[in-house]
Amino acid sequence: MPFLNFPPSSLFLLFTLSFFHFFAVGLFSNVDYDILIRVKNTHLDDPDGALKDWVPNQAHTPCSWTGITCDSTNLSVLAINLTTSNIAGGFPYDFCRIPTLRNLSITVTNINGTLLSPSFSLCSHLQLLNLSSNLLVGRLPEFSPLFTQLQILDLSSNNFTGDVPLSFGQLPALRVLRLTMNLLDGPVPSVLGNLSQLTEMAIAYNPFKPSPLPSEYGNLLKLENMFISTANLTGPIPGSIGKLAMLTNLDLTFNSISGPLPDSIGGLRSIKSIQLYNNRISGELPESIGNWTSLSRLDLSQNSLTGKLPDKFAAIPLEILHLNDNFLQGEFPESLASSPHLTDLKLFNNSFSGTLPQNLGLNSPFTEIDFSSNHFEGNIPKFLCQQNRLQKFILFSNSFSGNFPESYGACDSLVYVRVEDNQLSGEVPDSFWKLPKLNSIQMSDNQFQGSIPPAISLARDLQVLLISGNNFSGQLPAEICKLKELVRFDIGRNKFTGGVPSCITELQKLQKLDMQENQFAGEIPKLVQFWKELTELNLSHNQFTGKIPPQLGDLPVLTYLDLSSNLLSGEIPEELTKLKPDQFNLSNNKLTGKVPSGLVNEQFVGSLLGNPGLCSSDLKPLNRCSKPKPSSFYVVVILSVLAFVLIGSLIWVIKFKMNLLGKSKSPWTATKFQRVGFDEEDVIPHLTKGNIIGSGGSGTVFKVNLKTGQTVAAKSLWRGHNQSDIESVFQSEVETLGRIRHANIVKLIFSCSNGEGSRILVYEYMENGSLGDVLHENKSEALSDWSKRLNIAMGAAQGLAYLHHDCVPPIIHRDVKSNNILLDAEFCPRVADFGLAKTLERQTEGNDAGVMSRIAGSYGYIAPEYGYTMKVTEKSDVYSFGVVLMELVTGKRPNDPSFGENKDIVKWVTEAALSEVEEKGLSLDEIIDEKLDPRTCEVEEIAKILDVAVLCTSALPIDRPSMRKVVEMIRDTKLPPSKS
Ligand SMILES: *[C@@H]1O[C@H](CO)[C@@H](O)[C@H](O)[C@H]1NC(C)=O
Ligand SMILES: *[C@@H]1O[C@H](CO)[C@@H](O)[C@H](O)[C@H]1NC(C)=O
Repeated sequence: MPFLNFPPSSLFLLFTLSFFHFFAVGLFSNVDYDILIRVKNTHLDDPDGALKDWVPNQAHTPCSWTGITCDSTNLSVLAINLTTSNIAGGFPYDFCRIPTLRNLSITVTNINGTLLSPSFSLCSHLQLLNLSSNLLVGRLPEFSPLFTQLQILDLSSNNFTGDVPLSFGQLPALRVLRLTMNLLDGPVPSVLGNLSQLTEMAIAYNPFKPSPLPSEYGNLLKLENMFISTANLTGPIPGSIGKLAMLTNLDLTFNSISGPLPDSIGGLRSIKSIQLYNNRISGELPESIGNWTSLSRLDLSQNSLTGKLPDKFAAIPLEILHLNDNFLQGEFPESLASSPHLTDLKLFNNSFSGTLPQNLGLNSPFTEIDFSSNHFEGNIPKFLCQQNRLQKFILFSNSFSGNFPESYGACDSLVYVRVEDNQLSGEVPDSFWKLPKLNSIQMSDNQFQGSIPPAISLARDLQVLLISGNNFSGQLPAEICKLKELVRFDIGRNKFTGGVPSCITELQKLQKLDMQENQFAGEIPKLVQFWKELTELNLSHNQFTGKIPPQLGDLPVLTYLDLSSNLLSGEIPEELTKLKPDQFNLSNNKLTGKVPSGLVNEQFVGSLLGNPGLCSSDLKPLNRCSKPKPSSFYVVVILSVLAFVLIGSLIWVIKFKMNLLGKSKSPWTATKFQRVGFDEEDVIPHLTKGNIIGSGGSGTVFKVNLKTGQTVAAKSLWRGHNQSDIESVFQSEVETLGRIRHANIVKLIFSCSNGEGSRILVYEYMENGSLGDVLHENKSEALSDWSKRLNIAMGAAQGLAYLHHDCVPPIIHRDVKSNNILLDAEFCPRVADFGLAKTLERQTEGNDAGVMSRIAGSYGYIAPEYGYTMKVTEKSDVYSFGVVLMELVTGKRPNDPSFGENKDIVKWVTEAALSEVEEKGLSLDEIIDEKLDPRTCEVEEIAKILDVAVLCTSALPIDRPSMRKVVEMIRDTKLPPSKS
């Protein structure tokens, strides 16, 4: 027995040692154990029982508890790591009383309050402190000189405010500092330049006071990651940046950095990713970029760079190169075509010219290329899909010529192809049309020829097929009907012949179908009722025969129907009376019979002319409907009357012509956006004081009763204002409103301008004025019925969804507010005032949203990110729309004084909505507009609308739903009609 061989003394020693060991472990773990239990019971609120295993145990050790890590030898607590739970309460300083604690991490919980207690220094022995994604507020804590161990500090995604304290620069061991997504509003902290051990600095997404990138950061010789996006950086990048030889990632996007890149920036010897997009960097790219021998991603898009691309690019092992939206010019450097790793190349919206190297793609595994909106010419290179990975192939708006290379017919990976607006010709390879992943083909306005092959049915995911303005010919194959996902189909202005396959009505997702200016013949397909989503149907200028299918009048969202200049016959179906005057055109056909009474209105005349067989007793230029045959006496009388009328009209015509000649001196330039029977001479005399019905930021609005009997609203833009502002408002309205049609968007009918700076816009007249006026100017009894308000919410949402999702390019309104939502006689809403609207140039590039030069929008409706990023996305409109929803429910203005200081409608409603859940504070009843008739109020509906409103006004744009989603959510709130 070996045991017995131990001398008694060593046996004793062994015994004593293990006793002490047991005692020591018991003692320490007891302390930790007590602290943890005490903090749990007295400091933390744990409604979901995240810490339910933190309960006394026999061994008195916390080492098996959730989130606890112990030292394996002496069982002392080394780390506390609590994450993603509903744990709430102030920061539990007492955890730091555990002397062995190194890492304290409590993230994505509801820890609230400040870190300003003196007890914070209890934590000075920590190596890691991570409190990210909590509800902490107030100033950042001070770090006393005792914090010598701290290596990682993460306070991101809280609501810390104010300056970064100087003591942050005195953390000698700090390697990682993350303060992103707070509300820090002092200057960008130069003191961080003292953190000599720092490898990561992440202070992005804070509303810092505009300040330059501190040159002190050049001292951070160990820095690997610098992340300062969206932080109000201004001025040039300091030359000292070149000292950061270890830097691998640099992200300074969405700031206002200006000036040229310093030549020293070539000193970033380890750099792998540089992202500087969305700034104001100017000048030429320095030659020193050739030193970036590890760089794989370079994004300098949306700046003001000029000059040519240096040949040096060839030396950089780039995978991603984005230089779009600059002022770069010159030829594409031949050397760049040899890049062996380049997958994503975006050069759009510059002034590049010349031909592309014909071997481009031979060496590079491209997935995306976008050269659109430049001045490139010559042939499209053959090899862009050589490695069969190309998905996005975007070359539109250049001067490329020659054929669409045969090689792309084998490019199975293609999803999105845009080559419109070039001078391409010849046939498109047959095999191209059937590529299985194609989603969008846009080839309009070239000189392509040939036909669409039946095999196109294999491109099953195709949603967009736009090939108008070419020389395509032949019949439209019936296989087109298998493209069930098709949303937009435009083959107008080609040479197609034959009949349209009747199965085309099975394309139930179609929104726009344009086939005008071809040689289609035969009848219009009958079963159009399947086109539930169709908003636009243009079959004009073809040779369609037969009758107009009556079901066209029943299509629920059809807002434009053009059947003009065909050979259609028979009577006009009564059903078409459901369409509005500027929404259809039947002129120049062979229609006969009596015009349905619903269309007997002068406004419709322009859409009916050129059908000699049509008659109406009341519509002037049309034939009167048949009456008893005149006797010979009457014939004589009528003939003489006719002669009289003829002479009379001759005189009138001559007068009119002379008048016109006289008018040609008129300084006005006018545009008619629909067929109207008036011009500027009829409008301008009515722009008098007595006719003023409103005035807004940009001009005065007049009600004008025209001679034609029509009433319109005319807006005269302020003169004497900054003329370039007026011009940009005028252009915005004309360019956006002039080209869109939607039932919930106000219609621009006419515009005119003169050399003296007058700018006049004429719209359809809206009987009930603006939603803002009705709600807030003591007219709200008109909207005492909740369902009316809900309809307004729905209609306005649909209008905005149309702008964001159906317009190409999408339009951002930028000034959504109740005063810009007009109401017609039936209180149907129309979104109006497009003076600040912007089109987003690209529809597919989610990131490339516009940067605006000045803040647009109205106080109380402006999304929070707007104030400091100047970045505008559709989501800013969503925020403003959320405010309008809140107005509809509460009847209050966005800045009603009753909300109290520092509060607006968003805070007020959000608090009420939250307290409703928690059943304390304001209740829902207290915020609902008292002018709403309670008998019409479905409280459940109202609560759901408020939820939508709160979601729309989320602080972070990413949390807000799209307008399309908003429409769905509003639709879902509608309860089935109650029986009572
Ligand atoms: C944090 O700030 C955001 C944006 O200002 C605000 O919506 C949110 O309520 C704030 N949270 C706390 C806990 O203060
Ligand atoms: C209707 O179509 C004809 C011919 O296509 C065109 O000249 C006329 O301007 C159109 N009318 C309206 C009201 O758009």
